[in-house]
Amino acid sequence: STPLKVAVLGCGSVGSQVVRLLQEQAGDLAARVGAPLELVGVAVRRLDAAREVDVPEGLLTTDAQGLVARDDVDLVIEVIGGIEPARSLILSALENGASVVTANKALLAEDGPTLYEAAEKAGRDLYFEAAVAGAIPIIRPLRESLAGDTVTRVLGIVNGTTNFILDKMDSSGAGFAEALEEAQELGYAEADPTADVEGFDAAAKAAILASLAFHSRVTASDVHREGISEVTAADVQSARDMGSVVKLLAICELKDDAVAVRVHPAMIPRSHPLASVREAYNAVFVESQAAGQLMFYGPGAGGAPTASAVLGDLVTVARNVLADKRGAGESAYADRAVLPMGET
Ligand code: HSE
Repeated sequence: STPLKVAVLGCGSVGSQVVRLLQEQAGDLAARVGAPLELVGVAVRRLDAAREVDVPEGLLTTDAQGLVARDDVDLVIEVIGGIEPARSLILSALENGASVVTANKALLAEDGPTLYEAAEKAGRDLYFEAAVAGAIPIIRPLRESLAGDTVTRVLGIVNGTTNFILDKMDSSGAGFAEALEEAQELGYAEADPTADVEGFDAAAKAAILASLAFHSRVTASDVHREGISEVTAADVQSARDMGSVVKLLAICELKDDAVAVRVHPAMIPRSHPLASVREAYNAVFVESQAAGQLMFYGPGAGGAPTASAVLGDLVTVARNVLADKRGAGESAYADRAVLPMGET
């Protein structure tokens, strides 16, 4: 069938993995969607920058606005990050009739409702599984799977860098500075670690989770935030003595029907499932009225895990675009033999 046309905005660590997977997995993706996905452009800031992927000849452009203004583009993947130009580009893409997949945590935490409303008005999809906790499916469970339930609380370890630092302090008795240095050497923490260690990254993710969990408009500025730079080796040791561990938690709750969201270091008993989240892993613990307690766990960052979430969204959104074009959904199976029982 006719290919669906895909534009990618940004070709950094996530974007380059997305472009690579779009090429390498083209056959499988086409089978799952029910139509081939044709990469028609990759917008970058500089044409001559070094990249982790070979972008096919002629597809690179510095004109992101021109790319999203094309009326033949069905799907736009935004992995530039930051507020502008990402916001204008996403809004243009939706207005032009494309569905959008984004990994843009900062933008969704600052101005999500503007984007959700634009998508609704355009009758297009806006999916963003990669914006919170990398590869962990948590956005769609909150938005879709739990949509018939009432979520009462979300507790998340949503920043891998700070979890690595606190875990290091817990397991080795190291102080904050020493553990941070190790996180930087291993490439978790950035040279300027402020966004992670002061809780800004976790607060943005908490705002997105709370918006979805409680069907409200929560922005990063609504989140009470305290980071981990003041946590000392003695704090971690006294938590240990009490059978607890210190974690940077994002806590989203309903209090008298109002939404309260905060990020701060908290002591949790070692028997709690979140206490077992080690190194740079992430986890989100959800409590809801009917389902009870659920935990989502996995790698919260990294080019390939984040690209996995982006591609998952892309397949779903592409199926919807195709169903719209065809007027009806078709289930798609890979053209792959199934062995008779007993033959392996
Ligand atoms: N710097 C973040 C973290 C990953 O350490 O979890 C991107 O959100």
